[in-house]
Amino acid sequence: MASDAALPYLQAIVFLITVAILAFSLSLRRRKRNLPPGPAGWPLIGCLLQCGSQVPLKFHEWSRKYGNVMSLQLGSQLVIVLSSYDVIKEAFVKNSNIFSSRPKSYAVARVTKEKGINTPWVKWKHTHKFISKTFREFGLGKQIMAERVRTEGDILVEYIDSRSNTPINLKHVFANAVSNITCSMLFGKRFDYEDPDFKLLLQMSNQNVVTMMQASVLTFFPFLWYLPTQVKRNFITAQSELVSYMKQKIIERREQFTGEEPENIIDAFFLEDKEAEWDDDKIIELVHTVKGIFIAGTDSTAATLLWAILYLVLHQEIQDRCYSEIVKAIGYERHPEIADRASLPYVDATGTAGFSSFRERGCESVWVPHP
Ligand code: HEM
Repeated sequence: MASDAALPYLQAIVFLITVAILAFSLSLRRRKRNLPPGPAGWPLIGCLLQCGSQVPLKFHEWSRKYGNVMSLQLGSQLVIVLSSYDVIKEAFVKNSNIFSSRPKSYAVARVTKEKGINTPWVKWKHTHKFISKTFREFGLGKQIMAERVRTEGDILVEYIDSRSNTPINLKHVFANAVSNITCSMLFGKRFDYEDPDFKLLLQMSNQNVVTMMQASVLTFFPFLWYLPTQVKRNFITAQSELVSYMKQKIIERREQFTGEEPENIIDAFFLEDKEAEWDDDKIIELVHTVKGIFIAGTDSTAATLLWAILYLVLHQEIQDRCYSEIVKAIGYERHPEIADRASLPYVDATGTAGFSSFRERGCESVWVPHP
């Protein structure tokens, strides 16, 4: 009978799968011998299920048990987690030449063609240096940047005030304000919060972050890339929509730029490579860099501000004390400035304590690994 004939094949397949799983688990165990301690995972999926939805909190819990350098398997990826100031400094400051690059995520590399912040470090370090230098030239740490932040802060407060009787999602409002600062550096202008073009940019940027997080599964199981999954489709769509948007903005700017004094960071890139032919490939490279800066700057800073607001709301007495100190030292007529820091010790300490708490809470997603 046909079913009897198929039995030996079925047994052989089950046998082969069992052997493959055992071999995989054994190879993991063998690899683990030379690795820092860490939680044991399941065959094939590793610790993915144990991570739960709050990955930073789980990592924190594990690091208390296994130490500040721990290893764990996430699908096909072996991950080393560093959890203290000292070990992070040791790796990324003292041994930056070894640890600065990023591991090649199959899905991200396919979509970004390894451009922007996913460029291999040997090439990216020049861009990284150039970005840091250009950011300083365009105001980072200078009076002009403080002025921009103050102006945006006023607009933000006015916007929230004007909606005082309606519920408001602060996440979106902070994203508006924060990305406007980045936009003023990148594109040389801020946008009105209701500007449809700006709304589209923020919506695409948010979609980029969401789909990128979901696409982590493609990093942990690269073979999924070859299946027609919704995750892959969403990831590719979100990436290509934002790339097209940025590309159009950069081409428009390229046409306007006189080649003289740079007015924004995009101009600075044009000027830096003024001899180069700005063909499609070169423009796309800049698109991915600009996209990386925009997304990296928006989500992280908006999340930091949201945490700060939450802490102040939950600790009214601290909020009151900060307020009184500001009123006493500065009054109502002007904004606090960096130069006032020395006369605002309680506000300063509150900020520092808030930042310290990010060690436990995390304000940046777990998605910028190093090899
Ligand atoms: C409180 C705010 C912020 C936090 C907590 C934060 C956090 C981080 C972290 C953890 C990384 C990964 C570093 C690494 O892998 O070595 C990173 C990278 C990066 N951030 Fe931020 N960031 C913030 C604000 C910003 C802003 C305002 C910008 C720009 C407008 C920005 C642009 C970048 C860029 C371009 C990278 C990639 C650097 C590279 O790969 O060379 N970040 N940030």
